[in-house]
Amino acid sequence: MTAPVIVAIDGPSGAGKSTVARTLANRLGVPYIDTGAMYRAIGLAAREQGIELPIEDAARVERLAESLSIGIETGPEMRVFVNGRDVTAAIREPEISRYASAVSAIPGVRRRLVAEQRRLAAESGGVMEGRDIGTKVFPETPHKFFLTAPLAVRAARRAAELESRGTPQDPSRVLTEMEKRDFDDANRAESPLTCDETYVLVDSGDRDASAVAAEIERRVRERASPGG
Ligand code: C5P
Repeated sequence: MTAPVIVAIDGPSGAGKSTVARTLANRLGVPYIDTGAMYRAIGLAAREQGIELPIEDAARVERLAESLSIGIETGPEMRVFVNGRDVTAAIREPEISRYASAVSAIPGVRRRLVAEQRRLAAESGGVMEGRDIGTKVFPETPHKFFLTAPLAVRAARRAAELESRGTPQDPSRVLTEMEKRDFDDANRAESPLTCDETYVLVDSGDRDASAVAAEIERRVRERASPGG
């Protein structure tokens, strides 16, 4: 592969994007870039500023996003820093999922982060996961995958993940919140989550992440060097 390879993995929450994208990045030897973590970092900062949900003063959040330094350390794992502070663990709290979804609907927040995401992957490529990677961040990449699974499967996975992190939540609440967040992400005016014909649709409902990563790797390699 000559030009840096950029693989877009979009889809709703809990579809297994993170594990699949991380595994795939390791196999392809490119950085793994979790763009949701960047929206979460701004969500965390908004909550720490005392901003409440639903967000009423979008301009204040845009100013906040402009003023923050968001640092990303790529590698097999990815670490996120806000003004030099490591927030990698703090952004995983369930409340920050709601904040991330709320701040991500604000155009100025997206403008700022999309510019950074392009810069991050421009030099060395990457496997980038999010909601708008194939539609807005790198629409020209030929490697676009829309990863999904039935809602009940995704919610059960997220509940298990929260439990293993030591922040268990009632499974029915996890499902309701996930459904709301997916609805909001797919119906917002700015860069909604959408799957069009330029994507390969991949269902992770009945397969584990390593099988899904293997399928995507095969498709990426085929497309990157057809016939070779
Ligand atoms: O992927 P993750 O669940 O960490 O993303 C948190 C939230 O950030 C999503 O619900 C979505 O609202 C937002 N997001 C986005 N665009 C991206 C990645 C995440 O709007 N590229």
